[in-house]
Amino acid sequence: MPFIELTKERYSCRSLSSRPVEKEKIDAIISAGMNAPTACNYQPARIWVVESEDGLQKVRSVCRQSFVQNTPVIFIIGANEEEAWVRDYDKKNFADVDASIIATQMLLEIADLGLGTTWVGHFDVNEIVRLFPEMEGYSLIALFAVGYPEDGAKPSPSHFRSKTEEEMVSRL
Ligand SMILES: Cc1cc2nc3c(=O)[nH]c(=O)nc-3n(C[C@H](O)[C@H](O)[C@H](O)COP(=O)(O)O)c2cc1C
Repeated sequence: MPFIELTKERYSCRSLSSRPVEKEKIDAIISAGMNAPTACNYQPARIWVVESEDGLQKVRSVCRQSFVQNTPVIFIIGANEEEAWVRDYDKKNFADVDASIIATQMLLEIADLGLGTTWVGHFDVNEIVRLFPEMEGYSLIALFAVGYPEDGAKPSPSHFRSKTEEEMVSRL
């Protein structure tokens, strides 16, 4: 699919099956994230791939959205501010920016593979860190429960609400 079509076709899929996801597809999602550009190429991020039953149950206990409850794999992406580039003019730390580029490439790869997910930012970060102490010190910017879309899965109404080009684009 041409890239521009992929960006149009992708949607937040909230109806996902428990069908296993092939290892090659999980590896491709990881590669897409690792191929992302980051400021100064510092790569100040970590991707956690949760596949064990114990790990999945822990994430699901914190992130109670229905579409997180039965997927076979969950990715969590975290940014590490201590490893990131800081712009000297205004001291802006680019860790979240870099991690978001990584997550976005993963999101699009997931769609390109015919899989579904939703970027989840709404979860109890303190509780996740309590269950996974190695996430301490990271800014957790995305959680992707990934699986095959159920038959009949479709975008939510919010998918179709877009600003106009006039509202969003300034040509100077
Ligand atoms: C940073 C970010 C955080 C989000 N957090 C959540 C979330 O916690 N729960 C949820 O159901 N959707 C979440 N979404 C999905 C958005 O609601 C969705 O992308 C938006 O409504 C547009 O719909 P679409 O992805 O189908 O085009 C998030 C999206 C982004 C980019």
